[in-house]
Amino acid sequence: MSVAKKVYKRVTVKSLTEMKQSGEKISMLTSYDYSMAKIVDEAGIDVILVGDSASNVMAGHETTLPITLDQMIYHASSVVRAISRCLVVVDIPFGSYQSDPKEALRSAIRIMKESGAHAVKVEGGKEIKESVKRILHAGIPVMGHLGLTPQSIYKFGTYTVRAKEKSEAEKLIADAQLLERLGCCAIVLEKIPAALAKEVSESISIPTIGIGAGNGTDGQVLVIHDLLGMTHEFNPRFLRRYMNLYEEMTDAIGKYVADVKSQDFPNEEEQY
Ligand code: KIV
Repeated sequence: MSVAKKVYKRVTVKSLTEMKQSGEKISMLTSYDYSMAKIVDEAGIDVILVGDSASNVMAGHETTLPITLDQMIYHASSVVRAISRCLVVVDIPFGSYQSDPKEALRSAIRIMKESGAHAVKVEGGKEIKESVKRILHAGIPVMGHLGLTPQSIYKFGTYTVRAKEKSEAEKLIADAQLLERLGCCAIVLEKIPAALAKEVSESISIPTIGIGAGNGTDGQVLVIHDLLGMTHEFNPRFLRRYMNLYEEMTDAIGKYVADVKSQDFPNEEEQY
């Protein structure tokens, strides 16, 4: 079903609620640097997530755990300098909000002050309730993240679909309702059954943004490197690739190498 799109000169957290109310789906993508964020913003995305997936796709770590608060602020400030329309949400990294609410608030304030971003994202429900409250009381919008929460990967053991069991599904619904009551602006639902994601989305008034959670959520998010086909070894069922940039880049770079070796580059017109 297609819904008339309201034109937002600037997307705010309020716009996300309006989109849910009007049935317009929210588009969110990750970005971590100036050049990519500029393209993503100009292409019309609603939200850029400066995800801690930067730890994987930018730094080459196996998990999101090693990335630091300083590194997240560096990525976020590069993104903020590039955008003129979209909302910028930044992951508070592992170890910067779990120990106590004061630390959580300090980390959120650093992100907002030093990067100029518009909101922060944290993983978890009831366990981080006090931290979420504290950040929200300071006037900082918070996006939640439930289901597969990669910062807890060593607790889960695998990246498989979460909340297939009744007890985990019930906890997820309760956590989503709690995050709504606390005042979160939206919730990412990662890798959970589509029926559960739809049920959660229909049971709360704040938007849900899914990744591997079917089409019953109020929006979708992907990691930009996956969408562009740069991470060619990563093939989860939920991923739709819109390009094969890995092949296109390999091909282009191969041609450049050949042109340099054969002295075809630079030619007469390409020199002073
Ligand atoms: O860090 C990230 O990219 C994320 C998305 C997968 C939602 O949290």
